[in-house]
Amino acid sequence: MQIYILTLFPQMFQSPLSAGIFKRAADRKLAEINIRNTRDYTHDKHHTADDYPYGGGAGMVLKPEPIFEAVEAAKSEIPQKQGVDGVPIILLTPQGRLFSQQIALELSQYSHLILICGHYEGVDERVREHLVTDEISIGDYVLSGGELAAMVVAEAVLRLIPGVLGSEASAADDSHATGLLEYPQYTRPPVYRSWAVPEVLLSGNHAQVAKWHREQAITRTLKRRSELLEKTNLSSSDRQIIDRWQQSQ
Ligand code: ADE
Repeated sequence: MQIYILTLFPQMFQSPLSAGIFKRAADRKLAEINIRNTRDYTHDKHHTADDYPYGGGAGMVLKPEPIFEAVEAAKSEIPQKQGVDGVPIILLTPQGRLFSQQIALELSQYSHLILICGHYEGVDERVREHLVTDEISIGDYVLSGGELAAMVVAEAVLRLIPGVLGSEASAADDSHATGLLEYPQYTRPPVYRSWAVPEVLLSGNHAQVAKWHREQAITRTLKRRSELLEKTNLSSSDRQIIDRWQQSQ
């Protein structure tokens, strides 16, 4: 997978890309993140990437030309046979659709993604109308720019690409991957400051452990994020777990 990130602040990406999942994906040649400075696509003496809003108002607005040209330059590097016309061109903005594990999974199916980091007070509306194919928000709060949001999206997508994580199973069990929050995890020592690990986990009984994991994931989701259960596929034994928990409250 190739991810292009268009930004006025390329230096923000230096250290995140040099460690963890990003580095592992790059080292294993499973993904490449190409950071492009939109200022390189300006043509005036001062390399102007933003300007005052027509009609007045506070702040500056990102000019359309450098963004269009940066996207076109990225697209020109994508081989036609890989379906350059279908490449998602995504603007990170608090006005976008709310990012989720489902959207990460959807994006992980593409060979290329182009992420555009908005900044300042906004982006010329013609970018929205005539260039981007999708707008994503990482949550109902406002960041100063789309850079951190682009990193969040890129990391959530990359870890779904086969081979990027150490073990495939670990992504499948993650909170949200199953529609449930993840069950509690323990490691050695078996007793720490008098707090013991639940007995069942030491039992070696795989069926019992699996049952406990499922119960814990369901009750944890009920307690913390019960609305998630509305979208989760539940078996009849899952429903029994819910009934029992509700009766115990
Ligand atoms: N840019 C500023 N705030 C943002 C948010 N919440 N999500 C995505 N991009 C943003």
